[in-house]
Amino acid sequence: MELIDGKAISLTLREELRIEVEEMVKGGHRPPHLAVILVGENPASQAYVGAKVKACEKAGFKSSSLHFEPTISQDDLLKAIQTLNDDDELDGFIIQLPLPDHIDENAVIETVDPTKDVDGFHPINVGRMAIGLDSFISATPGGIVEMMRRMNIETEGKHCVILGRSNIVGAPMAMLMRRKGHPGNCTVTVAHSRTKDIKSITTQADILIAAIGIPEYVKPDMVKEGAVVIDVGINRVEDASRERGYRLTGDVAFGEVSPKCSYITPVPGGVGPMTIAYLLNNTMIAARKRM
Ligand code: GUN
Repeated sequence: MELIDGKAISLTLREELRIEVEEMVKGGHRPPHLAVILVGENPASQAYVGAKVKACEKAGFKSSSLHFEPTISQDDLLKAIQTLNDDDELDGFIIQLPLPDHIDENAVIETVDPTKDVDGFHPINVGRMAIGLDSFISATPGGIVEMMRRMNIETEGKHCVILGRSNIVGAPMAMLMRRKGHPGNCTVTVAHSRTKDIKSITTQADILIAAIGIPEYVKPDMVKEGAVVIDVGINRVEDASRERGYRLTGDVAFGEVSPKCSYITPVPGGVGPMTIAYLLNNTMIAARKRM
C-alpha cells in the first residue's frame, strides 16, 4: 500500500505557482488576484476560506475576502457578485458553499462571469468540460486528477466507481475519469444514496472515489484487493479527547481499508490540500488569460 501524499503534492504545485508569480511580477505584471465571498458563520466554511486566503499569500497571489451576514438578501449578494465581475483588477472569485437556505445557489452560480469562475461551477464551464472544451475544472475533482497525474496512477481501461453524485465532486469527477487521456479513459459508474446493493458495485472498482459525506462509510468488505482509493470526505466527528472537540475523518474507514489498497489518500492530508492548490492553479489560468 502506498499513501498518496496530497499535502506534499499540493506544496509542489503551490511552489510552481509561486515561481510563476515571481516571473509575472518581474515582467511588469500584477500578481493573480482571487476574491472569496463568505456568507454567514459556518465554522467549516470559515476554516476553508481562511486556508484559501493563506495559500494565496504564500504563493504571492493577491487575495480579497468579502464576508456578509447570513441575513444578506439574494439581490444584495447578486449585486456584490456583479461588482466583482466588473472589477478589471480581479482574475477570479468564488462564493463559498453552502449558502443560507433563502439564497438560490444556482442563481448565485449563474451570476458569476464564467471567465472568473475559478470554482468551475457555472453551467458554461460544466458544459464545456462535458464536451471536452477548454474550461475551468472545479477544484476538488481537478485536484484529484492532478494528484493522479503526478502519481502516475494507471487509469486507462480501469473501472472507476464514484460514490456520490454532487455537482461539486461526483458529477464532474465522472466526466473527468471517462475523458480521453491520462488520467481518464476509465469505465465509470456513479453510485449514490439510491443505488441498490452498493457493495456489489464498489467491489468491482479498480479506482474508488468516495464523496458521499458519511464518516467512514467505506468498509474493507466494499473494496477490491489492490484498488486505488481516493477519499474526498472531510467529516467533523465529535471527539472529546481533542482540544477542539472534534476530529476530521474521511468517507473511508482508513485503518481497516488501507491494507487492501494499492494507493490510498489520507484524511487530512490527501484531497483537501489538493483542492486549495487547484483553486490557485485555476486563478493563475484566469490571470494568464487577462495578461
Ligand atoms: N464548499 C465545499 N467545497 C467547495 C468548493 O470547492 N468551492 C466552494 N465555493 N464551496 C465549497
